Amino acid sequence: MKAFAVLAPHSAGRVPVHDACRVRLHDIEVDFAIVEQADITMDAADPRHAHDVLLQIAAFSCNYREQARFLEIARRTDSKGYLVLGSEFVATVLATGAAVDELQPGDRVIGNGAIDASASHPGLTTQRGSAELQICHRAKLIRIPAMMPSADAAAFSIAAQTAYAMVRRLGLRRDEHVLVTAASSNTSLFAIEALLGAGLHVHALTTSPHIGAHLAQRGLHRYCVLDRQQNPAQALATYLDAQGLRAFDAVIDPFMDIYLRKLVPFLRRGGKYITCGVFEQFSRPHEPFQYHGLSLDEMFSLIIRKSIHMIGNNLGEQADLERALADYCAGRLPVALDSVHGNGQLDSFVHRSYLAPDRTGKVVFDYHLPTLEKRAC
Ligand SMILES: NC(=O)c1ccc[n+]([C@@H]2O[C@H](COP(=O)([O-])OP(=O)(O)OC[C@H]3O[C@@H](n4cnc5c(N)ncnc54)[C@H](OP(=O)(O)O)[C@@H]3O)[C@@H](O)[C@H]2O)c1
Repeated sequence: MKAFAVLAPHSAGRVPVHDACRVRLHDIEVDFAIVEQADITMDAADPRHAHDVLLQIAAFSCNYREQARFLEIARRTDSKGYLVLGSEFVATVLATGAAVDELQPGDRVIGNGAIDASASHPGLTTQRGSAELQICHRAKLIRIPAMMPSADAAAFSIAAQTAYAMVRRLGLRRDEHVLVTAASSNTSLFAIEALLGAGLHVHALTTSPHIGAHLAQRGLHRYCVLDRQQNPAQALATYLDAQGLRAFDAVIDPFMDIYLRKLVPFLRRGGKYITCGVFEQFSRPHEPFQYHGLSLDEMFSLIIRKSIHMIGNNLGEQADLERALADYCAGRLPVALDSVHGNGQLDSFVHRSYLAPDRTGKVVFDYHLPTLEKRAC
């Protein structure tokens, strides 16, 4: 079976690969490859696999947090081997354990990262979603509709589940205004669609001017482009003024370390701030913004004085993913796809995933595709 992986420096040339490419990321040479691994099987009659499902992965995509894991491997000059990557996937069920009665061989499934009490294994389905054959617990999978193309399905589960959870947890009223930061990130693109689909007042904040055209095409004309070299206070004040607003009612933010200290002054008293992540996940610090915002003391003081609700969010509940799938089926949740790549196109897959400043949506690798497809979103 195949898998998408980053090779440790001493493994290049020693591991069987179908395709390989070397790129420089965060000042490190990183060797990506489609490696060949031994096939796995599952004895469906084995009681230890009673709740398990054997899957054949058709397509996968990667997420932001994986970079920290593979940069670590690429930096280790003393190690051999490789790290298999892949966060989201679409797969066909090959076999099911004796206690799995809701899934059948032939069903198409994606990961279910449910963290609610009903899920027996809370959290991500897998961190190696590109490995073509996988055994997963039944609770970590959800069936998808037949009308969902593989590329959309391979780009869906984590960002959709997280975005829908954040929107649910904010509990916004129809007259409230919510700001979504890092608007070109995949998580925020899903959050924006979820908010628009719910008929809420959405504002987007981005440092990537190219995303404006995509947002406008989606009917979102209220966005503010920030310069990473500038203190954003003036731009935000001018933006709010132009919108006739004094402050935002809520913020959805995938990068709390970049935005929290800059945005607390622009959130109303009693407003809500929900975040699912930080920018600085790599072991070597870099400067995403020259201006950092309020000092920590000032920020803590303002959060208290304004009685702001701070909410941390990890993934979501099964019901969040089900709602996202229902909205997808009803045509209310289009998936932003940057591009879809197939066998022999590792280089373009890696470049669009990690190096393209104009990336617009998810970048998918489809094991069944021989050709590159650039999709308009
Ligand atoms: N806890 C959870 O359940 C969960 C689930 C999913 C994601 N997450 C987290 O959400 C975050 C986003 O993940 P993702 O996969 O959606 O990321 P992504 O698609 O890779 O988004 C990266 C975004 O970062 C912004 N950016 C890049 N370089 C920057 C710089 N130098 N300065 C400022 N902004 C910069 C850009 O947005 P703009 O240019 O538009 O500002 C870019 O689109 C991560 O922290 C991830 O770990 C958490």
